[in-house]
Amino acid sequence: MIIKTKQAILASEITDPLIFKERRKIIKAMMATLVAGTGIASSLADTDNSIWSGLPKGEFSNDSLMPTPAEIVKNYTNYYEFTFNKKDATKLAQSLPTDPWSVEISGEVETPGNYYLEDILRQQTLQEYIYRFRCVEAWSMVVPWVGFSLGSLLKKAKPLSTANFVKFTSVYRPEVMPNQLNKKMLDWPYVEGLRMDEAMHPLTILAVGMYGDTMPKQNGAPLRLVVPWKYGFKNIKAIVKIELLKRPPTTTWNKFAPLEYGFYANINPAVAHPRWSQSSERQLGSGLFTPRRETEIFNGYGEQVASLYNNMDLRHFF
Ligand code: MTE
Repeated sequence: MIIKTKQAILASEITDPLIFKERRKIIKAMMATLVAGTGIASSLADTDNSIWSGLPKGEFSNDSLMPTPAEIVKNYTNYYEFTFNKKDATKLAQSLPTDPWSVEISGEVETPGNYYLEDILRQQTLQEYIYRFRCVEAWSMVVPWVGFSLGSLLKKAKPLSTANFVKFTSVYRPEVMPNQLNKKMLDWPYVEGLRMDEAMHPLTILAVGMYGDTMPKQNGAPLRLVVPWKYGFKNIKAIVKIELLKRPPTTTWNKFAPLEYGFYANINPAVAHPRWSQSSERQLGSGLFTPRRETEIFNGYGEQVASLYNNMDLRHFF
């Protein structure tokens, strides 16, 4: 596996440097207004690489975790709409237009609607969440996400008592996402789901950035889900629709291989993937001789979430 380093691949090499600079300027200006609106002190000097500094920390953000180097996280991604190769998405995903962006919130809610992302953000408090992330392929990383509570967004739509599940749908743009023309493997658009109590849990966030900057396209810009106690494939990228449902939605990976990718997908070292063990993980960015990390049940978030599954046999709800 080859991980391109900062020297090997710069974002400014991928996009035309002028457009790249312009885009950053526009985003900075937009975010300046948003951040000012939320009352968060932010340093927006042009020389400052971070557009969000001094954000408050999410309730379960863990400051003692050492984030994986950003260049690794940005250049080793899973984005199957573009490619099955982890290094190619960095370049290919740049063709996805992410501005303007709107998100439909519908289903079992009192006030359904279609909202511009800017309008959603204006009503939310952006925070930094340093979380562990564990892919079902047995690699892991630590990412400082920038985002807001999913529960706080859902509450604004006033969920009905019949809302038991949440379905998330990614953007469908086959003209720029070439694999969406190929229906042989996965069904597009990419769909994921959560139970309502999982969606309302304070650990669950919608992220719009990472490492103090806006979300790179290859990592799911402009809006992605982060559920740190579940395998990475639940963390759906480029969300355009959030529907509250009575019944569990059919989800992309579960439909493709139900015995390999469960709906719950709670991280559990004791339940092996049919083709490999889940007992340990390779930490991205660690040296060749660094031992693998022992995977923790619920990725180490058991204290916060184990009670959600009190009545379930975790061996069956993988
Ligand atoms: N979301 C969409 N729309 N398409 C994808 O291919 N891949 C998933 C998830 N979200 C994926 C997606 C998988 S398998 C993983 S492990 C994570 O995104 C990876 O997130 P990262 O690329 O930011 O590390």
